[in-house]
Amino acid sequence: MSGGKARSSPDKGARTADRSAALHDSGSGSGSELAAEPGESIWQYAPAPESRDVVSIAPEYGLFVAGTFRPAADGRTFATINPATEEPLARVAAAGQADVDAAVSAARTAYEQVWQPMPGSERAKYLYRIARQLQERAREFAVLESLDNGKPIKESRDVDIPLAAAHFFYYAGWADKLEHAGFGPDPRPLGVAGQVIPWNFPLLMAAWKLAPALAAGNTCVLKPAETTPLTALLLAEVCQEAGLPPGVVNVLTGAGDTGAALVSHPGVNKVAFTGSTEVGKEIARAVAGTGKKLTLELGGKAANIVFDDAPVEQAIEGIVNGIFFNQGHVCCAGSRLLVQESVADTVVDRLQRRLATLRLGDPLDKNTDIGAINSREQLDKINELTQAGEAEGAQRWSLPCQLPERGFWFPPTVFTGVSQSHRIAREEIFGPVLSVLTFRTPDEAVVKANNTPYGLSAGIWTDKGSRILWLAQKLRAGVVWANTYNRFDPASPFGGYQESGYGREGGRHGLAAYLNV
Ligand code: NAI
Ligand code: MG
Repeated sequence: MSGGKARSSPDKGARTADRSAALHDSGSGSGSELAAEPGESIWQYAPAPESRDVVSIAPEYGLFVAGTFRPAADGRTFATINPATEEPLARVAAAGQADVDAAVSAARTAYEQVWQPMPGSERAKYLYRIARQLQERAREFAVLESLDNGKPIKESRDVDIPLAAAHFFYYAGWADKLEHAGFGPDPRPLGVAGQVIPWNFPLLMAAWKLAPALAAGNTCVLKPAETTPLTALLLAEVCQEAGLPPGVVNVLTGAGDTGAALVSHPGVNKVAFTGSTEVGKEIARAVAGTGKKLTLELGGKAANIVFDDAPVEQAIEGIVNGIFFNQGHVCCAGSRLLVQESVADTVVDRLQRRLATLRLGDPLDKNTDIGAINSREQLDKINELTQAGEAEGAQRWSLPCQLPERGFWFPPTVFTGVSQSHRIAREEIFGPVLSVLTFRTPDEAVVKANNTPYGLSAGIWTDKGSRILWLAQKLRAGVVWANTYNRFDPASPFGGYQESGYGREGGRHGLAAYLNV
């Protein structure tokens, strides 16, 4: 990858971390440090677009209720767009109160009459079928996800879709073993689960929610995010194909009001939410005192901690993966780099060189590293916070690259000279923006890492195993990665402390959220 440079193709828009711009840029700080070594070749990347033809998008989609697709009772619809081009992809039904009533009632009937009484070994067969269908149709799902969300095809193809299938496989395996899961001899499902998910990993979050709920014997009403409803609707089609009994899974598209109506519906027994801390708190208030079981997976401001004995090249890859994967739209993103002072300059310098090889542009191009920001609202939020970073005195470096003219884009950005009081060190930016802070001693690293209202994840980069164990004990974070970052496995529980929410998803712990234990 080193020395990589993308070709700017006029018809597709720029897809480039334009190295020549980097070499000659004098305005944004360290451009001159990126000069190619003499004799270093500058690679040209030809466009490598994934075919859009593998997916057919209907002009209009209905709600998936009781096993069939139908328009919203009041006929309301909204558009979902491709954030890389702003082109409308489809119109989607906007579920109102009557639709929420219908979906919850379909889920209740399916729970009582079919799904809960069914032996776990039979439920497992449906989950395995869904998992296999996700694999069969993986390419279609990946293209659709990238179109609707803006994420690079290599990520939807290699991460989102395979992990979504893996979750169904994993929980299918638990469906007939619940009495051996450590929750007593006869753990019972809760009933109807109301599940609200965000736009950053649309299909994967649907899988995280549905698979454990169904394995445990619950039925579901799922509300995907309004900017990314399409893969959840394709998953509904897969449920149909798998012969899942009607009403076991229902998908209600719509915006925040649909989500609010779902979580406060009296027929819902369990609420699961992934999204912003603000909405999570609202939901906690709505659910308080109702007896509904609640899990919340909210924001984060994770510290990625690099010690002076860390393998630098690996750490650089981990930093890049930590904050620039999925445009930084990741709740557990390593958005605060805590680097030991003695190696800070080296790390930042190497990081900028590495970032100069990233290619930003067409999400459907297989060579793209950085895709589009999911929505104009999110882009506005990223702009606001980065402007605050500059105004508060941190030094900004942005990858000098040409941004496509249409769509929502933000260049990979690194802030140095960040202090703990800066907004960019405290607030979740949820974009490709890294804040670099330094520390001198391990104790100082702990204090700084924990100086956040969040507590979802953290990363540690060091050569010393003893230091990893010591630090992992001290960090108030649900997930601590050592010498790696953003690694996910369905068998591993995931979740946070404090304002990052409560409850765990994934693994055996993830079952507990859907059982009466
Ligand atoms: P959001 O929390 O508003 O949206 C997440 C989901 O909740 C969507 O499906 C939305 O329709 C639904 N929702 C909104 N209001 C609701 C309500 N009152 N009751 C029930 N459901 C409701 O997040 P948004 O506005 O898309 O992003 C704002 C910020 O939240 C981001 O900038 C980021 O910092 C954070 N965020 C964190 C995520 C995570 O994975 N932890 C995911 C998405 C956003
Ligand atoms: Mg969209």
